Amino acid sequence: FESSSTFYTDTERSMALAEQAKKVAAEFDFPKENVNKAVKEFLREMSEGLEKDGTELSQIPTYVTAVPNGTEKGLYMAVDLGGTNFRVCSIQLHGNTTFSLTQSKVAIPRELMVAKTSKELFSFLAKQIEAFLKTHHEEHYFHHIRRRNTGGQTKEEEIFNLGFTFSFPVQQVGINKGMLMRWTKGFDIPDAIGKDVCALLQVEIDELNLPVRVAALVNDTVGTLMARSYTSPGKTGTLLGSIFGTGTNGAYVEKLDKITKLVNKKDAGNYDNSTGEMVVNTEWGSFDNSLRTLPNTAYDIELDEKSVNPGIQMFEKRISGMFLGEILRLALVKLLHDPKVSLFKDENSATNDISSTTTIAVDSPIWKQWGIDTSLLSICAGDDSHGLRITRQTLDKDYGISAASAEDAEAVKIIAGAVGKRAARLAAVAIAAVVLQSGRLDTANPATTEQKENISPPRGNVQSEGRGEVREEDVIDIGVDGSLVEFYPDFEEHIRAALREVEQIGEQGEKRVRIGIAKDGSGVGAALIALVAGKVASPQQ
Ligand code: GLC
Repeated sequence: FESSSTFYTDTERSMALAEQAKKVAAEFDFPKENVNKAVKEFLREMSEGLEKDGTELSQIPTYVTAVPNGTEKGLYMAVDLGGTNFRVCSIQLHGNTTFSLTQSKVAIPRELMVAKTSKELFSFLAKQIEAFLKTHHEEHYFHHIRRRNTGGQTKEEEIFNLGFTFSFPVQQVGINKGMLMRWTKGFDIPDAIGKDVCALLQVEIDELNLPVRVAALVNDTVGTLMARSYTSPGKTGTLLGSIFGTGTNGAYVEKLDKITKLVNKKDAGNYDNSTGEMVVNTEWGSFDNSLRTLPNTAYDIELDEKSVNPGIQMFEKRISGMFLGEILRLALVKLLHDPKVSLFKDENSATNDISSTTTIAVDSPIWKQWGIDTSLLSICAGDDSHGLRITRQTLDKDYGISAASAEDAEAVKIIAGAVGKRAARLAAVAIAAVVLQSGRLDTANPATTEQKENISPPRGNVQSEGRGEVREEDVIDIGVDGSLVEFYPDFEEHIRAALREVEQIGEQGEKRVRIGIAKDGSGVGAALIALVAGKVASPQQ
């Protein structure tokens, strides 16, 4: 092509912009045959992970062997570390599928994510728990302190059982014990690797003398699965809990005898095998790290190379909120460097030098790694205002890009839409594989045209729930949570379109999949697991 010194007219540059944006968008296509290949690979990696350790899909046994049915009761605490925020909550389970939740949330200071020692992070967490108790359970807290000061012991039933939602890959060896395998999502504190994260937290809690026992270690996906089961107990129980937020992952109900790496182990620890099932945390963020079936654009490559964990979490890097903004940014930067294209250029300018013609502030986040937030994708996708006014305002306000034209905004929307759609289609790969692995499509009745009496009532707030024709016993229930499912318009519709394209699922199978939001699932779910764990620890309750 022409050299960068060539002069282009505004019309030429506008046309080139639309064309170029579509071309870049096409790089994110993930067609039907690729979806099917990836599902096959996912199933292969699932089986491999159930047989042995050290595989791409970790398939971690969670020691949770039953899902709730909505009748569970009691007051529990839960904390949640795993993304951008640290949350502390107490949950009152009412025993009738409802609960009340009190919570506080703090952003995790960036320096703690990469702290020198794990103690710095965990003592910060314990301090948040202390502050929460003082604010929301004052009487309980001071009662405990008074007893301590007068040489007394706090009674067993006055100690809070706490569910610790720790959303990183952990090799679990019991319901409240597990060693950190690796950090993800931008965290990096090397001395924590290989340590029991429950013990790390308990030590700090004890240093502050809090009436709290870390009773259960919970991945957020397991929490989501439990919470969904508690709030919407269907006839068949929820199959999968999944997160599409800062990171992505899923936990599902597996038959115990298929988890051969656990059942064949002599020192596997205690678990209740009466249900014949166990929840498995797939850690699907690292699905296909060796890129046998995943798409790999120049933007994906660059993002990975410059990340703190190159070559790892390759699936997550194409799906989740921590990364999608960066993929979009890299694609936009490529367009910005193309002199033929008019993206964000000042139309009155007579030169082709980017620095003097652009309407972008020099310190715009668009020039910095991680500078674009994934929320921009959701904003673009949902923008149907005239001339994409909302997108333009956001570019101006949040990104220092003043005077972006409607064409500019359209180009951003086209590319952002392609990045978001690819993420949803990849998400469908994981969901499809779990549905197929469960065998639930084969065993239930194929009948989908029952009489009116059998029609399932609409539930929850996701549009697909209560798809009329499916009988309750044929529903395959999936709980989801995370910013992408919550805020990205059409994320679920793109997932569904891809599910229909999966050969062994098709239209009939897709209809049977019920997807429901389990909002704040990780907190409630952690409480539910703490409940079960508490019963084991103190059988008198
Ligand atoms: C990352 C973590 C995983 C977690 C997911 C969603 O993939 O490794 O444990 O479930 O993010 O938060």
